[in-house]
Amino acid sequence: MIVAVANTKGGVGKTTLAVQLSLARALAGRDVWLIDGDRQGTAMAAIAARSEAEKQPGIACAQYADGPQIRAQVQQQLGKWDDIIIDVGGRDSTALRAALILADTLLVPFAPRSYDVWALDDMAELVDDARSVRDGLRAFAVMNQADPGPLSTDNLDAIAAVTEVPQLIYLPTPLRRRKAFSNAGGAGLSVTELSPRDPKAIAEINALVKRLF
Ligand SMILES: Nc1ncnc2c1ncn2[C@@H]1O[C@H](COP(=O)(O)OP(=O)(O)O)[C@@H](O)[C@H]1O
Ligand SMILES: [Mg+2]
Repeated sequence: MIVAVANTKGGVGKTTLAVQLSLARALAGRDVWLIDGDRQGTAMAAIAARSEAEKQPGIACAQYADGPQIRAQVQQQLGKWDDIIIDVGGRDSTALRAALILADTLLVPFAPRSYDVWALDDMAELVDDARSVRDGLRAFAVMNQADPGPLSTDNLDAIAAVTEVPQLIYLPTPLRRRKAFSNAGGAGLSVTELSPRDPKAIAEINALVKRLF
């Protein structure tokens, strides 16, 4: 399955979730290719940290910042992988558009701040554009960096706004703001590999993986 983790907005957790999803699938025994489609190369750096630590399984990762290159590479290598996860940078780029044409599934992480929720209108338009030239793109939105504990009124308001975007299906598997996510992400580790273990972070990622795949 090809999953694009995308949002025109930066800092919403695209790289964090792309790395966690890749690791969850690899740890489940699948051959995973992670494509870093952002010039900043954050996903690539995380996977480099993992290979320097010689952590198994290793994850194949490549960085291509432009759309035509991503498209050509994915089409060439499609048969080699069980899952391809594409992390695409925070603006309306050719990489993002290419990812939306290639993917079976789009995951749009959003943070529960009003300006992030507005950015979902951009994503809705991009999904419309992609669907006008292809069939079968599933598009989901998931809240990331939610307040710890029960969802606050702000968080619930953001969810209500997202459910009004018809192009995106809201996944009721929010991820809270947790140190485990930022610590694991930087080191190229799954939250399941991190010590001390954070059972809540693990449960949140597992719930998301189950919904997506
Ligand atoms: N659920 C979370 N809990 C805590 N920190 C998070 C969470 N998701 C992302 N972060 C942190 O927020 C910052 C932005 O996340 P990142 O995945 O790089 O966003 P993007 O790729 O969308 O720009 C990073 O420092 C990351 O570690
Ligand atoms: Mg990123």
